[in-house]
Amino acid sequence: MHAIVITEPGPADVLTWTEVPDPTPGEGEVLVDVAATAANRADINQRQGNYPPPAGAPEYPGLECSGRIAALGPGTEDSGWSVGDTVCALLSGGGYAERVAVPAGQLLPVPEGVDLATAAALPEAACTVWSNVFMAGGLRSGETLLVHGGGSGIGTFAIQLAHARGARVLTTAGSAEKLARCRELGADVGINYREEDFTDRVKQETGGAGADVILDIMGGSYLAQNVRSLNVGGRLTIIGLMGGRSAELDLGRMLVKRLSVHATTLRSRPADEKARIVAGVAEHVWPLVADGSLGPIVDRTLPLQRAAEAHSIMESSAHVGKIVLTL
Ligand SMILES: NC(=O)c1ccc[n+]([C@@H]2O[C@H](COP(=O)([O-])OP(=O)(O)OC[C@H]3O[C@@H](n4cnc5c(N)ncnc54)[C@H](OP(=O)(O)O)[C@@H]3O)[C@@H](O)[C@H]2O)c1
Repeated sequence: MHAIVITEPGPADVLTWTEVPDPTPGEGEVLVDVAATAANRADINQRQGNYPPPAGAPEYPGLECSGRIAALGPGTEDSGWSVGDTVCALLSGGGYAERVAVPAGQLLPVPEGVDLATAAALPEAACTVWSNVFMAGGLRSGETLLVHGGGSGIGTFAIQLAHARGARVLTTAGSAEKLARCRELGADVGINYREEDFTDRVKQETGGAGADVILDIMGGSYLAQNVRSLNVGGRLTIIGLMGGRSAELDLGRMLVKRLSVHATTLRSRPADEKARIVAGVAEHVWPLVADGSLGPIVDRTLPLQRAAEAHSIMESSAHVGKIVLTL
């Protein structure tokens, strides 16, 4: 088969379409003929040499895909999946390839009303948002969520899902155009982080209380402001370190406001935890996709051979939502 290979750590043009050995499904895995994958910020970190795949994961980038089951590996005969089924999947890597072996617990059906290629844009965002905002953060209907980077692949999904489940959504982004798009997706308040301090605005928009849950992609550079922006009993879920990995945490403020901070990465979680998250997505999120309450936001679709171009676009942050890569 062919895959996009990272020839050496570096800029986008190190991504090269190359002939590589076919994967073999291990115990509990199925083999998927990939129809499409999607670019994620983590793929850029991997390409730059800063985010190696976890042990046992395929070495090629690609954290999600859609496609058809080509073969069932050992122990998957009773998984409920059959050869020929169309699926989308959460991956630990290897989506930028013609074929990938996936633990059966990480497969999802293609939601009703979504075409096969576009379904590749769903698993990583849906599983990340479900596990962080709802499972860890416990966001409830009527509460307020602050989503940083509302125009991102993750942000566009978080806004829609929180809105559909009855939360009030505040979001940050770096341009008026992106904020307008976020409002179309269900955000109640848009904050241009380049023009105003989001902490002041969150306080102003919540009658001085603050947000109940924050989904953060910046890490260190936003930690102090995030803690100040939380309501009593607030939950900060950190999923990205685009603003650095360390900062001072005001524990006094945390004690007084009874705050909690969660930080997780989906990719390195064990397969059984991923399977639990995927099952939660199938039960709670897929029906909302099927009834049109929310859906994949696709900025553009490119052939997988042009993965380098997709990475350059993503690094410039010119996109809103996901960049799908098709075979
Ligand atoms: N932990 C996990 O399991 C997990 C899983 C998936 C993704 N992630 C993380 O989630 C983040 C988003 O991933 P993605 O693939 O959706 O990336 P993406 O589409 O490239 O989005 C990154 C976004 O960050 C925005 N941004 C940059 N600086 C910002 C700032 N100071 N304040 C607010 N927004 C800012 C950018 O747009 P503008 O600046 O133009 O607004 C852009 O929309 C990444 O950090 C990724 O590593 C983590």
